[in-house]
Amino acid sequence: MSARSRSRWLPPMTPPSMTDHRPRRALGVCYYPEHWPESIWADDARRMIEAGLEWVRIGEFAWSRLEPEPDALDFDWLDRAIDLLGSAGLKVVLGTPTATPPRWMLMKHPDMLAVDAKGRQRGFGSRRHYCFSHQGYRAESRRITELLARRYDSNPHIAAWQTDNEYGCHDTTISYSNAARTAFRDWLGQRYQSVDALNRAWGNVFWSMDYRSFDEIDLPNLTVTEPNPAHAMAFRRFASDMVRDFNAEQVRIIRRFSDAPVAHNYMGRVTDFDHFDVGNDLDIASWDSYPLGFLEDRVGDDAAHQRAYARQGDPDFQAFHHDLYRAVGRGRWWVMEQQPGPVNWAPVNPAPLPGMCKLWALEAFAHGAETVCFFRWRQAPFAQEQMHAGLLRPDSADAPAMAEIAEVVAALKALPEGGPEDAPVALIFDYASEWAWQVQPQGAAFSYFRLVFETYRAVRKLGLDVDILPLGAKPRGHRVVLAPGVFHASPEQIAMLTASGAVCLFGPRFNSKTEEFTIPVPLPPAVPGLSCTVTHVETFRADLPRPVAGGGAVRHWLEAIESDERVLEQTEDGASVVVGEGTISYLAGWPDEEAFDRILRTLCARAGIDTVSLPEGVRIRRIAGQQAVFNYSAEHRMFEGRTLPPASVLWPGKT
Ligand code: GAL
Repeated sequence: MSARSRSRWLPPMTPPSMTDHRPRRALGVCYYPEHWPESIWADDARRMIEAGLEWVRIGEFAWSRLEPEPDALDFDWLDRAIDLLGSAGLKVVLGTPTATPPRWMLMKHPDMLAVDAKGRQRGFGSRRHYCFSHQGYRAESRRITELLARRYDSNPHIAAWQTDNEYGCHDTTISYSNAARTAFRDWLGQRYQSVDALNRAWGNVFWSMDYRSFDEIDLPNLTVTEPNPAHAMAFRRFASDMVRDFNAEQVRIIRRFSDAPVAHNYMGRVTDFDHFDVGNDLDIASWDSYPLGFLEDRVGDDAAHQRAYARQGDPDFQAFHHDLYRAVGRGRWWVMEQQPGPVNWAPVNPAPLPGMCKLWALEAFAHGAETVCFFRWRQAPFAQEQMHAGLLRPDSADAPAMAEIAEVVAALKALPEGGPEDAPVALIFDYASEWAWQVQPQGAAFSYFRLVFETYRAVRKLGLDVDILPLGAKPRGHRVVLAPGVFHASPEQIAMLTASGAVCLFGPRFNSKTEEFTIPVPLPPAVPGLSCTVTHVETFRADLPRPVAGGGAVRHWLEAIESDERVLEQTEDGASVVVGEGTISYLAGWPDEEAFDRILRTLCARAGIDTVSLPEGVRIRRIAGQQAVFNYSAEHRMFEGRTLPPASVLWPGKT
């Protein structure tokens, strides 16, 4: 186990551009042979092929059927399923089943369950019921992975692997178990070497929190009032490292036996572990895209927005994750699960507007996806997800999404050669900053994810493509670099951005903490070449925004700054909001939509990038030398003289 604290992101596999799109684009589906009588597998496979699907993902929840009793293995049915699907012409993604350990596992390892912040053990009866730090379960994970990898080492039908399923989903990254406490102490020992160093780094003289040994340090839950933010932040880094290590163990084993690429399927807005760190050990990043579920339960906009996009999903949320996971996968990424109809888990579960399943799939390809797999083949009439649509109804008749798949297949055939084009704008996303501002929001409304997402949305509304970069990555010819909310950046990381020649916008909160969660002196942002010092900050109520002189307002957050730079934007009462007219500018607050639009337009103009104003709900993405246009709105929209029907796509065609 290593106590590495910073992501060391590896550069893209296809430097310097993303245009080298090696594998061709394909569709697939998630299938659970163990849910259905063997007598219908062959017909299912035939229909998959007829529908134009090329990939089938199986196995990721099948542990109780692979090992019904400890060490009593039954892989024969999986052998037959793989053989049948593969012989029908499908390429198989085989999942390791570690997200669903069988009930007997708890007899072997009663303390393997995660514990929540209130000290309650989480129970059996759904999934993801394990703690990443539990060494006994880690050994079980390695054991089942090796059994699978050995058995299917050179199976010609296994064309990719998936590790586990959706790390972190259902709030499962962070666990306050005894196993986590032991592992955390060990991690701290490696990071700080001596407890005196830890006491100094955290400032434990405050409130007499000094420790005499690592064994005295508990997890930062159940404290009387808030724990030391340095303690909480260390725990968040540790929890992320546990996910990375768990995944890396499986990948190492699979690679000993198989040459097929290894992927993991991440989730939308799950940020409790550093995906760049995990991604460095994988060949492909993939994610599970449920646009309507996400709109209702995690995008975070107001009711009017949710009404307008109820059956289409947010126009930027999928694209944001496509771009994020393209970076996590260093250019290679998939959608492993695509919503095909109503889901079962959001507060409300509408059906997609006709056309949206096609739009979602094509949008993923426009952002560079190699493969889009729908979740799932047939709706299950039993258990938790019986209300979740599939491509087939429970009676095996086609569900509505099937017809749209045929249209996607045709659109892919028409697409000229070439991948997604390099974006002019780079946006930094840093998982550690998300943890830092969860630990210390300083105002309940401050969310790092929302700040970055609103920045992304503001850029996309200008008709621009965006590349997301981890902190520490080198911009690849980007003309604008945006770094909102980055809690700490080393001098080298700052230099990497400022030396790129791009116009850089830092802030708010840029570099406002040391890595150990203290206020740095000299005061932030400490960007060489920028005369700007944040002297103090204030946060304010959502219903008390500070109007900005040129229109719009600053919300939630405003820093008081001392600066010799030119003031480009200020509040009506004279507080600086944006300073610096050279290649480095500083943003001292959280702009609303109107203010953000103006700030970014000015910045792009300075960098020589043309911007447009897209109609509400319309977005574009350049691919294969042309632009794909997506109308997320439920209304007709005009774009460049053409009428776009609701939920429609203008897709590049061969000329
Ligand atoms: C995903 C998960 C799938 C299924 C799906 C339902 O998060 O990976 O197994 O539960 O959600 O929408």
